[in-house]
Amino acid sequence: MVVKADAPRSVTILGSTGSVGTQTVDLVSRDPERFPVEALTANRNVTLLAQQARQLNARMAVVADPAAYAELKQLLSGTGIEVAAGSEAVAAAAERPADWVMAAIVGAAGLEPTLAAIRRGAIVAFANKEVLVCAGALMMEEVKAHGATLLPVDSEHSAIYQVFDFERTDSVSRLILTASGGPFRDKDRDFMAAATREQAVAHPTWDMGAKISVDSATMMNKGLELIEAHFLFGIPEERIDVLVHPQSVIHSLVEYVDGSVLAQLGTPDMRTPIAYALGWPARIATPAERLDLVKAATLTFEAPDPVRFPALRLARAALQSGGGAPTILSAANEVAVQAFLDRRIGFLDIERIVEETLTALPHRPLRDLAAVREADADARRDAAGRVAAIGATAVGSR
Ligand SMILES: NC(=O)c1ccc[n+]([C@@H]2O[C@H](COP(=O)([O-])OP(=O)(O)OC[C@H]3O[C@@H](n4cnc5c(N)ncnc54)[C@H](OP(=O)(O)O)[C@@H]3O)[C@@H](O)[C@H]2O)c1
Repeated sequence: MVVKADAPRSVTILGSTGSVGTQTVDLVSRDPERFPVEALTANRNVTLLAQQARQLNARMAVVADPAAYAELKQLLSGTGIEVAAGSEAVAAAAERPADWVMAAIVGAAGLEPTLAAIRRGAIVAFANKEVLVCAGALMMEEVKAHGATLLPVDSEHSAIYQVFDFERTDSVSRLILTASGGPFRDKDRDFMAAATREQAVAHPTWDMGAKISVDSATMMNKGLELIEAHFLFGIPEERIDVLVHPQSVIHSLVEYVDGSVLAQLGTPDMRTPIAYALGWPARIATPAERLDLVKAATLTFEAPDPVRFPALRLARAALQSGGGAPTILSAANEVAVQAFLDRRIGFLDIERIVEETLTALPHRPLRDLAAVREADADARRDAAGRVAAIGATAVGSR
């Protein structure tokens, strides 16, 4: 596809009310002439959605929860902005003719809308990693078949994308994903066993949505990113390393066969990778703080601890097992993280539920999307049963 660097680009933001979504809105709102807005979607935060739709003069606003429709309609009455509700309507919003779609829904709920954008050959800025984890091979086939462009938004994958030699992939020897280590990087298992929701979502370097913050605390986020990197860049699991780098300045690295290592650096501000995708192939200005290496002074690195953080091992095992294993891993993790956020289970129950679900269910091949949906639903059912079994025991202190 030939893309004119500074031509106007119409935009749809799936998950506009979330952490990535609001930062995308921030960038788009700085240049409304260049980035006219086609559609915005949310789950149920209609107040913010309506405010964004008015601010950006969007053509359409969609809420996934049908119960929120009446309120959204009322909030946007008299504006001429189209309103719809339901998960099908979110996917239909992605089908509308925007040049560029930000996929920033959290979890596998983003599968259908992201696919809808891919199937019409759009440029898809891709934050919603669970979608690639649950249906990676099928998604990449769809991208190829429909001539879509997938631009990673995760800061690590954006970094790799910027230094990866797509013309000579056999010259790449290793991908090195950096990880902040999360809020429990220096905590022991006893601390983690008693960790509260508030402690788990308090990320040291990034300000993110609740689910990804908990994933960072368990380091499952890095496991999901490892699987994401495998599908995005076609590099096998054993050639993707994880490096703990608490300052989050080096966003990831690519090692080449000659020993050269290329990296992308910046302050930890998601507007930088979002802007890279929004402007691509041109660069656009952002208000992100400039990187001052003298001020940063010391950059440190350490190997991830597989004993305190078993999630990485689980993700590697799921990727090696293949078929529906990553789908099961991600779905069980979503259920367990939500249960932890709802204070129904403890922090260490998350990894236990994921491991048990991964062991209990068969890892069938994923021939089509129906098989993905089935593996996803089975894993959710199994994991929910395990959450229920933990039940009301010892939740009082959470
Ligand atoms: N935050 C980051 O810095 C960051 C960095 C890299 C990658 N990511 C990835 O980007 C994705 C979004 O993360 P986030 O932190 O922005 O999440 P978030 O703050 O929780 O926002 C999620 C967005 O998705 C919407 N949503 C939730 N459930 C939905 C459903 N069932 N159907 C339709 N829409 C739904 C939410 O709407 P409501 O507001 O109405 O609930 C919200 O707009 C995740 O996959 C995450 O791993 C995030």
